Amino acid sequence: MFPLVARSRLLPMSLPFRYFGAAVVFQVAAWAMLFAYSSDFVSFEGSLGPAFAALHLVTLGVLAMTAIGATLQLLPVATRQPVRSLGAAKLAWWLLVPGVALFAAGAAAFAPQTMGIGAMLVGLALAIYAVLLAVNLLGARGMKVVVAHGWGALACLAALAATGLALVARYEHGVALDHGAFRAAHLVLATYGFMGLLAVGLSSFLLPMLAVAPAPPAQIAYAVLALAIAGIVAAVLGLPVPAALLGLAAAAMHTASLERSLRARLRPALGPGFLLVRVSWACLVASIGVALLMALDLAPARAALIFGLLLVPGWLLTFLLGVLQRIVPFLASVHYSSAARGTPLISALTPAPLLAGHQVLHLAALGALLAAALTGEAWLARAGAAAGLAGALAFASFFAFVIVKVRHHGIQPPHQPAPA
Ligand code: HEM
Repeated sequence: MFPLVARSRLLPMSLPFRYFGAAVVFQVAAWAMLFAYSSDFVSFEGSLGPAFAALHLVTLGVLAMTAIGATLQLLPVATRQPVRSLGAAKLAWWLLVPGVALFAAGAAAFAPQTMGIGAMLVGLALAIYAVLLAVNLLGARGMKVVVAHGWGALACLAALAATGLALVARYEHGVALDHGAFRAAHLVLATYGFMGLLAVGLSSFLLPMLAVAPAPPAQIAYAVLALAIAGIVAAVLGLPVPAALLGLAAAAMHTASLERSLRARLRPALGPGFLLVRVSWACLVASIGVALLMALDLAPARAALIFGLLLVPGWLLTFLLGVLQRIVPFLASVHYSSAARGTPLISALTPAPLLAGHQVLHLAALGALLAAALTGEAWLARAGAAAGLAGALAFASFFAFVIVKVRHHGIQPPHQPAPA
């Protein structure tokens, strides 16, 4: 499944896996923070504190972290361009991990100075990644539609970092700015922009590859990209109704084209992860639907919380967990494949019961948090955070299982002659 040419683009396993490993740990930290401060959840309307810290442990510590690790490995396959500097990719990790930890700790403790130091480290890490991504896209020789999504995501990355750092400066130094406009722009550029365009762009080749299915036609993928970018620009310009309508059209076209591709697949069973991917698509469409209702003043109480839940844990985190549980065993198997040891079976690296447990817990967490946001019941938020934390620990066990299992691949127990 991993074309021979692509093997030459394989990064050392430790590079993408250190990003995936950090994301797995930050997910546990995010749910633990939410569990410890679940009473803040139903009344969360933005601004600093534990709920905001949990939000950025997810957005920066899990979403951005995984996006960087995955694109550093997958994009060279699509663009047929190697990553220009492995040293820079490693340095970005060494800045991003402490940066996220300091940012979240400062936000949780209402300490803008500490949050500011963390934000600077995060900003530096994202700048290094942005240069690596730009150099890779500039030299790209394949998959033009994936490259186009990459450029869109890169532009949004620059804008989200600028608005995010400006918002931090407002807390730290009292910088005067249009708070509502900066917050709204930051939110859209970070979630639908950077993360969304990467997820949509990579989906168009990764999901068909995992399902052994035909990729959606490039014209459809370009139309989705154009609609999505128009929607993001309209949102940043403060036109929420056109933004939501454009976003709904992009989301519906994207999910329909991938569903059509999956129906034409050669692999009968889609296997683990695709239920989460499909739930995430439903949350994507629902998040834009709630945004439209908010723009038309037809939304229920706590609509901003419901919107944020559908957008971040509902769509982006759930999608990421669905895909990560496929690419982690797949990449590990490719890395440990050798003439001497043979290729580890992906099925042997995929602990189905553990992943099934994770799936149930994660979906239960989402359901309980949504019910908490709809009803205002704090006990539902605590139950949701508990299920989320248990799910994150199950996912961490899955990751550890793959690492341990693949490390033992082909290693013969002592005193047994190696098979002929
Ligand atoms: C350089 C990196 C980042 C920095 C410095 C940053 C900083 C901030 C700050 C200070 C706020 C608070 C706004 C307020 O309530 O006053 C905020 C809100 C937010 N950020 Fe970030 N952020 C960063 C990256 C991201 C990323 C990568 C994502 C998502 C993928 C994200 C998603 C959000 C969301 C959803 C909000 C809530 C907005 C609201 O309450 O309306 N941020 N960010």
